[in-house]
Amino acid sequence: MFKENLLSLSAIALLLLYVGPKLWQRLQLSLAKHPSMAGHLRWAKRLAHWAPAYDYLGAQWFRADHAPEAVALQRQQALQRLGSTLGQRSPKTLAMTQATKPMVSDMQLISRYRVPFQFQKFLSENLQVGSYWTQGKGVWVADADDQWHMDVTGSYGVNLFGADFYKSCMQEGMDLVRDLGPVLGAYHPCVQENVAMLCQLSHKDEVSFHMSGTEAVMQAVRMARFHTGKRKLVRFTGAYHGWWDDVQPGPGNPMPPSDDTLTLNEMHTQTLKVLRQRNDIACVLVNPLQAMHPNKAAPSDSTLIDGSRQLHYDKAAYAQWLSQLRQVCDEKGIAFIMDEVFMGFRLGYGGAQAFFGVDADLVTYGKTLGGGFPVGVVCGKAQWMRRFREDKPGNICFARGTFNAHPAVMGAMNVFLKRIQEPAIQTVFQKMEGLWIDRMQQLNDQLKGQGLPVRVVGMATVWSVVYEVPSRYNWMLQFYLREQGIALSWVGTGRMIFNLAFEEAHFADFCSRFIKAAHAMQNDGWWWTAQGQSNRTIRREVMREMVRVKWAG
Ligand SMILES: Cc1ncc(COP(=O)(O)O)c(C=O)c1O
Repeated sequence: MFKENLLSLSAIALLLLYVGPKLWQRLQLSLAKHPSMAGHLRWAKRLAHWAPAYDYLGAQWFRADHAPEAVALQRQQALQRLGSTLGQRSPKTLAMTQATKPMVSDMQLISRYRVPFQFQKFLSENLQVGSYWTQGKGVWVADADDQWHMDVTGSYGVNLFGADFYKSCMQEGMDLVRDLGPVLGAYHPCVQENVAMLCQLSHKDEVSFHMSGTEAVMQAVRMARFHTGKRKLVRFTGAYHGWWDDVQPGPGNPMPPSDDTLTLNEMHTQTLKVLRQRNDIACVLVNPLQAMHPNKAAPSDSTLIDGSRQLHYDKAAYAQWLSQLRQVCDEKGIAFIMDEVFMGFRLGYGGAQAFFGVDADLVTYGKTLGGGFPVGVVCGKAQWMRRFREDKPGNICFARGTFNAHPAVMGAMNVFLKRIQEPAIQTVFQKMEGLWIDRMQQLNDQLKGQGLPVRVVGMATVWSVVYEVPSRYNWMLQFYLREQGIALSWVGTGRMIFNLAFEEAHFADFCSRFIKAAHAMQNDGWWWTAQGQSNRTIRREVMREMVRVKWAG
């Protein structure tokens, strides 16, 4: 009996010895996850699958917040007016959009997710926004009906210097490579200059060319895995790094989250602890845009169901976080990848590395760097970039791509890189941060002075609109802005991306349009709120609605 007990105790002890460290590691990992749903991707995916579809129709659409009849009527008239104004202004553009939409899946997706889903169907029957632009000039874009809008779509971030800048980069770039045409494989001589300029501005030793930001990130991660022999990549909650499975592991990706991707809490000491404790991490991916909203996904009006959108940008705190991260990466031989695809040159000539004072091992660029053409670039320290091993000829990290370093892209990049070195643009870079902080302050002062319940928060030229009213209709502002001739991307007021061609007069014009839009929205009753209504009560009510629909169906 005693012998048997001893045997089972030893078995338990052995089991604990084996399982204990794993359990401990799992616990540490759980503690390093952000407590929100965005930090728990399996649960987020389950919830996304569970959420039922339903629409607000007719009167209910205008009274989702139980507004009185009179307010609902005011809103109804406003929607009719907005719909007919936009429709009359741009009939050709809207007809083209309607004709193409059934055949372009991406167009369908973005028009479906401009506003919270409950409002989408009725809205699309009453108000349409076109998906065609035919001209870009300075800070403006025109649709097929020659309607000019101030462009704060930013072309997903590409447009940093205004449309004309890129038009001339593209033209001059094409002129530069005209004699070579579409020849691929070997390089156009301008690549020699491009590489030198890229190494100089990134403070790295080597460069690789790709066709998109997503590909650049894939390659950087691949190099980190090749050189460390480890599989795990660490990304931070909410950060976007392109649409490749491993870096977009939550809702939106049909596959379950990869076991090789750890999504951790950014700016948290437990994350540093996990990085220190584990020995299976190849790289840490940082998207400096997250400094604006650590651990949150980029704001979009499709999720603006109330007024709780908040952003917290603290440059010094983020810089300190990056330096702590850098230190752990050094201690553990983890590759520090700075993903500058979006923010890169928006933070200055030296990008996020210089802006936050951190030296990454690998840096990814894209968007604006192509001078208007599609591109992805990795710049890195030599020890991370080498794709083969001197001592093992069979051990290579294969990464190519037919259109890498395409002459047209390299030509436009050459023009872009040379121009941004000119003293005039260097001065623009130096003044950029202060200038856009001042502008943000100016607009916020005006909004406050006029009793409007909206504010803007931003990091250099990238801004988001935040709301002081717990309203179910804050997303309507995007259509009032459109009416005032301001073009936003499909994420609406979640993101306004300015370009540096905005002179003082343009900005003053922008502010007056913005303020007019906000006044009109206020006067039309969309910011009416019931007594006691808060962001919390809205969220609860929406959740109850979903449960009811689920139950019934
Ligand atoms: C930080 C970041 N990384 C990667 C990407 C992906 O770039 P692309 O859309 O060119 O594939 C993006 C795109 O928005 C991005 O913002």
